[in-house]
Formats: sequence, structure tokens, C-alpha cells
Amino acid sequence: VRGYDDRSYGEAFADVYDEWYLGVSDIDATVALLGELVTDAGGGPVLELGIGTGRLALPLAATGVVVHGVDSSPAMLDLLAAKDGADQVRTWVGDMVDDLGIDTYGVVFVAYNTLFNLRSAERQQACFRTVAQRLRPRGSFLVEAFVPDERDGEAVDIRTMTADRVVLSISRHRAADQVAEGQFVELTETHGVRLRPWAIRYASPQELDAMAAAADLTLAARWEDVARAPFTDDSVRHVSVYRRP
Ligand SMILES: C[S@@+](CC[C@H](N)C(=O)[O-])C[C@H]1O[C@@H](n2cnc3c(N)ncnc32)[C@H](O)[C@@H]1O
Repeated sequence: VRGYDDRSYGEAFADVYDEWYLGVSDIDATVALLGELVTDAGGGPVLELGIGTGRLALPLAATGVVVHGVDSSPAMLDLLAAKDGADQVRTWVGDMVDDLGIDTYGVVFVAYNTLFNLRSAERQQACFRTVAQRLRPRGSFLVEAFVPDERDGEAVDIRTMTADRVVLSISRHRAADQVAEGQFVELTETHGVRLRPWAIRYASPQELDAMAAAADLTLAARWEDVARAPFTDDSVRHVSVYRRP
């Protein structure tokens, strides 16, 4: 999507993010898994890359874990800041490759395909490198992402339709470039047209493992989801835990 940059996603989706995406993954299971990784590492803090509105970070902080979070979108962070418990989480506007704060971390995590918001292999590789530099010994980097399928395609789907409002999801997928991009187009009688663009560069679990290896991180565990269902050839998503050797 021409004109799209690192801030575009958060600035376009902030107002609907919690309504549309609150239920995209199991928050309790995520918090339980991250809590165990913190224990394995001998303590926090935990850093979330692309913390967004705090969907996962706030419940994690409520368990007593020290949580920090970086996000490129001021609009997403403003929503987080207005929520109960926000004073327990340290956040800053920045980039998940270059602005990882001043601390070292017991756990760094990037949830719900957010790593793919880095739209080149080089940026994703750089992210693994900077995370590895900030992990303490026994620390973990948890990545949650979908497993790509290799088919090209274009689609227009209906996300929501009522008498006075329709939200269309328009997307295209170029497998050769590992790029998927799209727009949610909201049409209303009263407010006209609203566009919410998104664009990702996706990577297979094997490609992520190679990026991790190049950053001196090894795969310690892989499941299908945060509830730790076994990962199989049919899994459409994965939760992978990388560790410093
Ligand atoms: C799909 S949302 C996920 C939010 C949250 N982690 C969750 O699971 O609900 C992706 C987030 O990543 C942020 N983001 C995108 N590119 C980024 C970058 N280069 N650096 C930091 N944050 C980024 C967006 O602003 C958005 O808040």
C-alpha cells in the first residue's frame, strides 16, 4: 500500500482495535505462559513489542510482573494510558527494532502477528538481533504468528453489515514477495468513507528460526497456540519461544 508507514496501522485501527480484536487470542493462557517464562528467566521485566492498547500487557502487569511496552502509534498508547492499571506499565512511542528502552529483559514478546508489521526480512532479522542483545541469560523471546499459506489471491469480504453501515475487507496476497496488504473500508450514511489500511511481510516458522539462529537464539519450544496445543504440519499458527543458549 503506497504511503503506508510504521505508524499507519495503529493510527488507523486504534478507535476500533479493542472492539474488533479483543478476542483474537486467549489472554489468560498468554498471561500464564509468559508468567512461567518470567520464572524460568529468574524475573522480569517483560517487554512487549507493539504493545498496542494493552490487551495482553495490562492483564500480565496485574499479576505483579513488571511490564514495559514499545509501540509506534501514539493513538494506540493513548488508549492504553486511559485504562485501569495503565500506571503499572511503562510505555513509550518508538520502533520495535531500534527503541527497546534502556533495560535488559527476562522476557520479550511479540503477539498476534505483530512481528510481520516489520515489512522486510532485514527489519525482522534486525529485530531478532536487538532483542537478543537485550535478553538476560535464560531469557526468552516469544513470537506468536500465523503459518503462511503459499497461494496468491485477492478478496473482498463483508466484515460487518447493518442498515446504515458496512465494513468491507479488501485484501491481496503476493506469495512471491511474502506480502499481504489490504484495507478495511467503512461506509456510513452519516460519516461517509473511512479507510483502515494494513500491510505485512510474513515469514514461515522455518524462516523465523533461521533469523533467530543468526541472532544466536535457539528454538526452545513451539506450540500451536498459547494454551500449548501441540504444533503439527496442519497448524495454521504458532507460538515459538527462543532462548539465549
Ligand atoms: C496487531 S497490533 C497488536 C497489539 C497488541 N500486541 C495485541 O496483541 O493486542 C500491532 C501493534 O504494533 C504496532 N506497530 C506496528 N509497527 C510497529 C513498529 N515498527 N514498532 C513498534 N510498534 C509497531 C502497531 O501500532 C500496533 O499497536
